[in-house]
Amino acid sequence: ESNHEKYRPLFHYSPPSGWLNDPNGLVYYEGEYHLFYQYYPHKNEWGPMHWGHAVSKDLVNWDHLPIAIAPDHNGMIFSGSAVVDWNDTSGFFGGNAGLVAVFTHSDTYPNTIYEKGAYVIDGKTITERPRQRQSLAYSTDKGRTWTMYEGNPVLVDVELIDFRDPKVFWNADTNRWVLVLAVDDHVRIYTSPNLKEWTFASEFGAKMGSHAGVWECPDLFELPVDGECENKKWVLIVSIGDNSEFPEGSRTQYFIGQFDGVTFTSDLEQEEILWMDYGRDNYAGVSWSDVREEDGRRILIGWMSNWKYANQTPTTGWRSAMTIPRSLSLTQTSEGIRLISEPVEELTGLRGEPATNLSGTVLSGDRLLAGLSGNAYEIEVEVEWKDVKEFGLKVCQSDREETVIGFEAESSFLYIDRTRSGESSFHEMFPCKHGAEVQTDGKQLKLRIFVDQCSVEVFANDGRVVITDLIFPDSSSNGVSLYSRGGDVLLNSFVYYPLKSI
Ligand code: FRU
Repeated sequence: ESNHEKYRPLFHYSPPSGWLNDPNGLVYYEGEYHLFYQYYPHKNEWGPMHWGHAVSKDLVNWDHLPIAIAPDHNGMIFSGSAVVDWNDTSGFFGGNAGLVAVFTHSDTYPNTIYEKGAYVIDGKTITERPRQRQSLAYSTDKGRTWTMYEGNPVLVDVELIDFRDPKVFWNADTNRWVLVLAVDDHVRIYTSPNLKEWTFASEFGAKMGSHAGVWECPDLFELPVDGECENKKWVLIVSIGDNSEFPEGSRTQYFIGQFDGVTFTSDLEQEEILWMDYGRDNYAGVSWSDVREEDGRRILIGWMSNWKYANQTPTTGWRSAMTIPRSLSLTQTSEGIRLISEPVEELTGLRGEPATNLSGTVLSGDRLLAGLSGNAYEIEVEVEWKDVKEFGLKVCQSDREETVIGFEAESSFLYIDRTRSGESSFHEMFPCKHGAEVQTDGKQLKLRIFVDQCSVEVFANDGRVVITDLIFPDSSSNGVSLYSRGGDVLLNSFVYYPLKSI
């Protein structure tokens, strides 16, 4: 513990050193989950992007591997995806299966056609026009080494500046690869027989959902509603970049609808916005490709930060981590079909012996839990009430600091308050309280809470509402307490599990 780096998570993936942002190239192949990620190894700030790499057999324990893909003459390596090319449609694998990465090459070129004026980055006028093009790399050795395709780039549009983050999947109905791309204020869909030649299919979204920032990192997949295979829907996930006008910064919305192999159509009203997470720190999340059919899960991991302050968080030598992986599903609610995110079940393998078990007790006023130490734990709690104003938990608590996970019963509002959570002077908008309404069936609430050095993830009522937040408490602030105001609550169950380090 004593030589543990300040704020370094114990059970979330974080880079060995340097800077991390989006998860990339998520693919399951030959018993391994691959996690590539936007990586700048030389400094803990965003810089010329590489793909860092880690693998895991269980989505929990990760092995760091060497950098997978580095910038070349076509530019930096921005976000993208990876697939197993099972039938060697690309011809890269001599008839066998192999991994293909599809990503954005980002560079600039002399400003010949950019007429809208100069492009300003960090106060400097750029006379070179930014350019984003989609490229391929392939691997014949389970992702250990990668070869750039000599025909790069494979998808270009000289008119467009924001043209990035390809997410590819195989569509068995049409016998085609499908690529979803973020293009400024909408997504475009392209199809291909071989990953090398792409045909424009359709576009979606310019007039739909949130346009609080540029659209980034889309993902498109099908899920059954309440597990019923006759009733499937397509989900389109879109991350929304930071716009300084909005306190929320960057965040992730989703649409539910149909996809016929060419066009995605949303079931939502034009102005309806659905958020995947109500916290500030779950961005650019996408899902694993090629997860075994018998497993059937759609598993997503996000970057646990926010462009509003991502470059300023108070860590030294390394910066940023991923969220815990979440299993996604759809459920019918009284308001419509909604996306559910639950912690992957493998995480229960990290649990140590329960340190506190208050199941079956009544909570009235404040109760500090005795004898807890450590900053990596899970709390599972089921609460029932008749008449109460508010109740909740305080985690990472000391005389000076606390992070509140509270529930205002009348409005059914669940929130995280990180205004006193610890170090927060690095950005004026970091200290804040935010959350969402939780539909409760009767007067009951179920929470699973994961705390890990510099983060809190709250899953309410089996993943109906999720709040993911960074916090930067002192490592000595490891108190946990419970409170109720204006009434009592019954703790049907309350268990605190210390979680093991990965
Ligand atoms: C999202 C993003 C992507 C881009 C990458 C660059 O966080 O802005 O759109 O590909 O980060 O690192």
